[in-house]
Amino acid sequence: MELTHVPENIKRLTDGKPYETDDTGMSGSRVMLFGDCVLKIVKSRKENRETIRMMKWLRGKLPVPEVICFEEDEEYQYLLMTRMKGRMACDAEYLEKPEKLVRLLAEALRIVWSVDVSDCPRTRDTDAELREARYRVENGLVDMDNTDPGTFGEGGFRDPEELLEWLENNRPSSYEPVLSHGDFCLPNIFLEDGRISGFIDLGFTGAGDMWRDLALCRRSLMCNLDGTYGGKVYPPFDTDLLFRELGIEPDNKRLRYYALLDELF
Ligand SMILES: Nc1ncnc2c1ncn2[C@@H]1O[C@H](COP(=O)(O)OP(=O)(O)O)[C@@H](O)[C@H]1O
Ligand SMILES: [Mg+2]
Repeated sequence: MELTHVPENIKRLTDGKPYETDDTGMSGSRVMLFGDCVLKIVKSRKENRETIRMMKWLRGKLPVPEVICFEEDEEYQYLLMTRMKGRMACDAEYLEKPEKLVRLLAEALRIVWSVDVSDCPRTRDTDAELREARYRVENGLVDMDNTDPGTFGEGGFRDPEELLEWLENNRPSSYEPVLSHGDFCLPNIFLEDGRISGFIDLGFTGAGDMWRDLALCRRSLMCNLDGTYGGKVYPPFDTDLLFRELGIEPDNKRLRYYALLDELF
């Protein structure tokens, strides 16, 4: 990402402050961590303005970063926000004790789902997701480097088009409406002192299906423990414990559906 013209307002608020870069995310964004704030720079998309609207709406409802300044030019959008306290749920400290981590993740899910969505400014239900997925497929935006082995190729789908068609024809028959985080994976959940301290990366947050969060949470938990992301391989762990904590019967069909849908993002 070649940055030439950082908008004046952002420059004024960050110039000269020491920072570290963060390369946890997979969205092609650039993240700069300052002492008490974070600058996230992404390629401009008008949908990201909705994310800002959601972040503002969520203030006081959930622990989310506060928007300090949002600027955009033809190429990039610049979001300067407060820095969440604590550590990501994929920190070794938590992965070492997966039973405890699962209890915290279950609590985090309950907290997100308990937000009243009656005046939520954004809908991210299956229709909205499929519409965006179609746009991504038609415009060659699907990131094929970050897909689960087995999704495409032998025994799987031929290509993103075929997967999209399958998803459009096999929607879940019912729907559990909640506030859905939309990218409920461990690096987006912050924990501190045995409590939930923050939710970040709210680009897909909106009124949506509970099962979307469950699918991504389970997969993220599994992949962070089994070395998929190149980290330490932890002892085998039964991710069904997450469902037992929540008192929900795992519905493998729906879990698979949303994990597959996420492959197109
Ligand atoms: N507001 C924030 N507070 C603390 N850490 C943050 C914040 N925003 C981003 N980060 C760090 O940067 C990483 C990537 O940012 P994120 O918004 O999740 O980008 P991506 O869309 O690429 O996943 C996060 O996992 C987290 O470690
Ligand atoms: Mg993220």
